[in-house]
Amino acid sequence: MSVYQHQQQTLQVESVAVPDIVAAVGSPVYIYSTRYFVERYRALSAALSNPSSPGPAARIYYAVKANSNLSVLRCFHDLGAGFDIVSGGELQRVLAAVGDPDSVVFSGVGKSIADIDLALKLDIHCFNVESPAEQERLSDRARLLGRPARIAVRVNPDVDANTHPYISTGLKENKFGVPAELALEMYERVAADEWLEPIGIACHIGSQITDPEPMLQALTSLLNLVDVLAGRGLDLDHIDLGGGFGVVYDDEQEFDVADYGARIGAALEGRKLTLSIEPGRYLVANGGILVTRVEYLKPGRGNDERNFAVVDAAMNDLIRPALYQAWHRVETVCSDEQRPEATRAHWDIVGPVCESGDFLAKERQLTIAPGDLIAIHSAGAYAMVQSSNYNSRPRPAEVLVEESTFRVVRRRESSEDLIRPELLGR
Ligand code: LLP
Repeated sequence: MSVYQHQQQTLQVESVAVPDIVAAVGSPVYIYSTRYFVERYRALSAALSNPSSPGPAARIYYAVKANSNLSVLRCFHDLGAGFDIVSGGELQRVLAAVGDPDSVVFSGVGKSIADIDLALKLDIHCFNVESPAEQERLSDRARLLGRPARIAVRVNPDVDANTHPYISTGLKENKFGVPAELALEMYERVAADEWLEPIGIACHIGSQITDPEPMLQALTSLLNLVDVLAGRGLDLDHIDLGGGFGVVYDDEQEFDVADYGARIGAALEGRKLTLSIEPGRYLVANGGILVTRVEYLKPGRGNDERNFAVVDAAMNDLIRPALYQAWHRVETVCSDEQRPEATRAHWDIVGPVCESGDFLAKERQLTIAPGDLIAIHSAGAYAMVQSSNYNSRPRPAEVLVEESTFRVVRRRESSEDLIRPELLGR
């Protein structure tokens, strides 16, 4: 059952009416559903557990970058997730939320010395190493600190994930991971390195992938490498296939996790490898909305002129439409019948930021009046985390709903918050 429904012509998240949240917290506001997170996590987990296999079940490392609010992290920790991080900042978030660094895998092409040192001292579960240069740095820091590191090499399997070019990561033109041949060389070097312990192999070929096929291709490439390495006397414990499971924004095909689970299970049958995955979007995207209020209507004066609804959220709050031409479903929070003064038309939903790229949706048929609340769907992933203070706009509050209750999990920023780090000279 959807976590969004209409009661008395008003949008609800679980059992909380959206206007009640806005009355308490103001707008714009991000609203997340606990039930959605729990149900998605359980669905994915069930799809990956193979009752007929004696091997350990798959391990889910939630990709913190998708939505790094501390309360969201705690929710997934309570469900049994580990965390995939890409920075020291994300590691600090995991620590603050759940204090459990040994369930962390560290991805990313540009790990700084400070980030590596922090992760070594905390003895995280695994570093996904993306280049020989990083491997060398990691080994040096491990020796210097006297803290050995467990590693997986991130392979770039050169498969096309058929997704937006900005979020495709598994082609050789992309900066991520290393080609198979180089991965083998890196494992050779690890074998001679007393500070690095090879425990796995990793890849992540892209995001918002709707067809499991490229992931299966990537798995095949990784298994070939696993076999070559086993032939050389190196047995790995896990294979990390990354994230990328696509979700429905509009009319996309829902990623079939059951089919994925079955096919991966078959490919891994008889092997002693544990499967790891790093899902972000799949777990959170459709568990969040961004609610914004209409400030002004600027209807076009002729048929060829556009109709603009200027709202109080902007590209700094949700940059996906401007950055990736992303389409997010939009609806009014209160339905048409309650608002006879509203105008039905095709509206461009735009923000107050001084850029023509500042739009949240274009040409949507809506019946709206100034002061109305609008919900922008699929805003649980890569939304608040990609927000900025452009135009000196304080970021929205974040609210987490659970059944009939809600709480603020990040207060709205104030103008003072924005100015505080700055120093005026003489
Ligand atoms: N693991 C690694 C190493 C990643 O780079 C990513 C995402 C994930 C896991 C999680 O992928 P997911 O399951 O969420 O697809 N800002 C873009 C998405 C960027 C994804 C970057 N990497 C967007 O708004 O669509």
